[in-house]
Amino acid sequence: MKIIIPIVAIFIFAMSGCYYDSQEFLYPKLSTSCDTTNFTYSGAVKPILENSCLSCHSNSTAVAYGGNIRLENYSDVKLRVDDGKLLSSIIWPSSYPMPKGSSQLESCKITTIQKWINASAPNN
Ligand code: HEC
Repeated sequence: MKIIIPIVAIFIFAMSGCYYDSQEFLYPKLSTSCDTTNFTYSGAVKPILENSCLSCHSNSTAVAYGGNIRLENYSDVKLRVDDGKLLSSIIWPSSYPMPKGSSQLESCKITTIQKWINASAPNN
């Protein structure tokens, strides 16, 4: 009988752990999560590009996989903002729908990039 009490205690302790098993707690928001109130280059836009585009458009992959379009450095991204291609590629239908061979970016990611461009795409 004496053994039961610690077991029950451990059980209760273990169960009470579940109280904090909210998604927010277990998976703290990554910088790539969709929060359109944050639309800085470094905090929002860059992580989206890193996750969805740089496999083909990094400085080292662009020639082989990305039609020589580079999206790794701010200055290169800014070129594609200014010629309108960044936005026209992620808003479908598009003549060059990006990310190529994948599904369209989530709408809040597109919104984030749009907001950043509307704010004249600062290097912030
Ligand atoms: C699987 C490789 C791949 C991925 C991932 C990818 N691209 Fe591309 N991208 C290409 C290729 C290849 C081209 C050249 C045009 C073509 O062949 O479609 C291109 C062209 C472009 C262009 C030029 C389009 C034009 O109008 O000339 C832009 C801008 C672009 N990509 C942006 C992006 C963005 C933004 C992402 C991420 C959301 C992305 N790409 C993801 C392969 C990729």
